[in-house]
Amino acid sequence: MRTQVVIIGGGPSGLLLSQLLLKAGVETIVLERKTREYVLARIRAGILEQGMVNLLREADVADRLDREGFVHDGTLIASDNDTFRIDFAKSVGVPVVVYGQTEVTRDLYNAREATGGETVFEADDVCLHDVKSDAPYVTFRKDGRDQRIDCDYIAGCDGFHGVSRETIPKDVRQEFEKVYPFGWLGVLSETPPVDDELIYANSERGFALCSMRNANLSRYYVQCPLTDRVEDWSDDAFWEELKRRIPEKAADTLITGPTIEKSIAPLRSFVTEPMQWGRLFLCGDAAHIVPPTGAKGLNTAASDVHYLYHALKDHYLDNSDKGIETYSTRALARVWKAERFSWWMTNLLHRFPEQSGFDRRMQQADLAFLRDNEAAQQAMAENYVGLPY
Ligand code: FAD
Ligand code: PHB
Repeated sequence: MRTQVVIIGGGPSGLLLSQLLLKAGVETIVLERKTREYVLARIRAGILEQGMVNLLREADVADRLDREGFVHDGTLIASDNDTFRIDFAKSVGVPVVVYGQTEVTRDLYNAREATGGETVFEADDVCLHDVKSDAPYVTFRKDGRDQRIDCDYIAGCDGFHGVSRETIPKDVRQEFEKVYPFGWLGVLSETPPVDDELIYANSERGFALCSMRNANLSRYYVQCPLTDRVEDWSDDAFWEELKRRIPEKAADTLITGPTIEKSIAPLRSFVTEPMQWGRLFLCGDAAHIVPPTGAKGLNTAASDVHYLYHALKDHYLDNSDKGIETYSTRALARVWKAERFSWWMTNLLHRFPEQSGFDRRMQQADLAFLRDNEAAQQAMAENYVGLPY
C-alpha cells in the first residue's frame, strides 16, 4: 500500500488530523491497535477549548457538538466552605464547551466512515521504518497477515503507551517527568449534575471535582491514594466521600445513583522533546501528558493537530516546508504553557502527603489571592479557556 501520511493511533488526535487532511485533499491511512468499540468505551476528557471547537468545525464534525454541547461561561472554585467563581465571559470573553471526548471520537469515526477515509482497526505490531530517509514506511499485522505502507510522513498519534515516541533514538530524545503522589477516582452516573457549572474543590480531605456530560449524566472525581483499587470503593463510599469534600450547599442538593463507570487514573506531567524526528511527528499524548486538573490533555492534543495539519497542508498545497521545519518548536512552546497551568492548578487544589503547615498556608494564600484579585482571575481564565494557537 501507499499513502501520503500514515497516522498511527485512532484516538482524537489521529482522527481529527485525518479528517482535516482529507478535507485538504491529503491522503491518509489510520492504524489503530484496538477496535472502534474499545476506543469509544474509554471515558476521558469533557471540556473543550474554543480552539478545539473551531478545529472540529473546520473538519466538518461539529454539528452535534454545536447542538448538544453545553457552553460554560465560568467555573466554581471551592476552598473548604468558601466558594468563588472565575467568570470567563467577564475576564476573557471566551467560553469553554462541555462535550465528552467519547462523543468527539464518535463524531470523528462517523465522519471518517461517511467520507470513505481508510482506518485499519486491530492493527498489531505497528513498526516505523526509515523515518530519517525520504522514503519511510510502516509495517503491521492484520488478521495474521504482514502488511506494509509506504508514505511521505508519519504522524505518531498513538498515545502515551504507543510505539512512535520510542522510535526516536534515546540519545536524541529528552524526557521530562513529574509523577504526583495520588490519583483521581472518577465515576459516571446517570444523574443530573449538581450545579450548572463545574466545581473544583480543595478540601481538608483532598481534592474533588463535580463535572458533567449532559443534563442527565454527571462525572465526579475525588483525589485518592495511588494504592487504592476501584474494587475497594463501593458507590456509597464514593458518594459519602464526595459529599464531605464539596461545599455544603452542593452536598445537600447532590443527587446520587448507581455509577455506570468507575476508574482510577494516576496523575502525571510528562513532555518529550523534540516532537519531530526526520519524517515522524509526535502529536498529543504520544508526546506529552498533563494531570487532568486544568482540563488540558485533549485540548493540547488538538493544538498539536492544528500545527501539524497546517505544516502538512502547506507542504502539499503551497510547496512550503516552513511549518514542517518549525513544528516541534511551535507545538512545544504551547505544550509547556499547558504543562505549567496544569501543574499550578494541581498544586493549588490537592492535598499532598508530605504537605507541611507552611505549604498549606501557601495554598490558602494562593486561593485567597485568586478569589480577590481580578488580574489573577484573568490569568486563570485565559489559561483555562485556552491560550491562542
Ligand atoms: P489517545 O486518546 O491515547 O489515543 C491514542 C490511540 O492510539 C488509542 O486509540 C490507542 O489504542 C492507539 N494506539 C496506541 N498504541 C498503538 C499502536 N502501537 N499501534 C496503533 N495504535 C495504537 N484529559 C482531560 O483533559 N480531562 C480528563 O478528564 C482526562 N481524563 C483522562 C483519563 C485517562 C485514564 C487517560 C489515559 C487520559 C485522560 N485525559 C484527560 C487525557 C486525554 O484523554 C488525552 O489527552 C487524549 O485522549 C489524547 O488523545 P490522543 O489521541 O493523543 O491519545
Ligand atoms: C471531566 O469532565 O471529565 C473533567 C472536567 C474538567 C477537568 C477534568 C475532567 O479538569
